[in-house]
Amino acid sequence: IQMIKSRVKKPESIIEKLHRRGFPISVKSVRENLYDVAGIRVICSFVDDIYTVAEMLARQDDINVLMVKDYIRCPKVNGYRSYHMIIEVPVFFSDRRENMRVEVQIRTIAMDFWASLEHKMRYKKNIPENHVKYLQDELYDCARQSAELDNRMQNIRNLIAEEAEEEECDTLAMLPMK
Ligand code: GTP
Ligand code: MG
Repeated sequence: IQMIKSRVKKPESIIEKLHRRGFPISVKSVRENLYDVAGIRVICSFVDDIYTVAEMLARQDDINVLMVKDYIRCPKVNGYRSYHMIIEVPVFFSDRRENMRVEVQIRTIAMDFWASLEHKMRYKKNIPENHVKYLQDELYDCARQSAELDNRMQNIRNLIAEEAEEEECDTLAMLPMK
């Protein structure tokens, strides 16, 4: 894990999302309809690490996995990649225990770099029509290239690990038998 970021959705954003999706505005409605009030982003170096972190979370017996979206195996049409999990964790209050939902996004550094740039463009309102198409195409191409880079870096890491394993075997083979 390179970095972990967390955020709690602002009240304005909670109201805006409930409104946009046509849900009533109440605490009960937030509990029932929103999954991303609490959000955690885990940034890894390598793609394999993402799946390792996801499996570790799923194995933890106080965590319930409610939903998984694998935008790495199936990227979005704009090129977005990330591994999303909606999990439920028990939170202990002085008088009770409550299950809280958390949206966990697990990504590589490259995926995070791409997503933050794409996010910036998404919220720029005054981009001329002809630029929008160009930027979308560029971003899509960058997503493709960054996926390729992630895969190549993963391959290098695998090769280094294999070499290290062989070296270890050689050393073991040289040890005197007891
Ligand atoms: P939201 O209503 O946006 O929360 O989406 P959703 O409920 O359909 O879930 P999804 O898993 O698609 O997206 C959840 C979160 O992932 C978003 O709030 C963003 O933080 C991130 N995300 C999803 N798609 C994109 C994307 O195309 N670009 C970027 N930059 N972030 C994305
Ligand atoms: Mg969201």
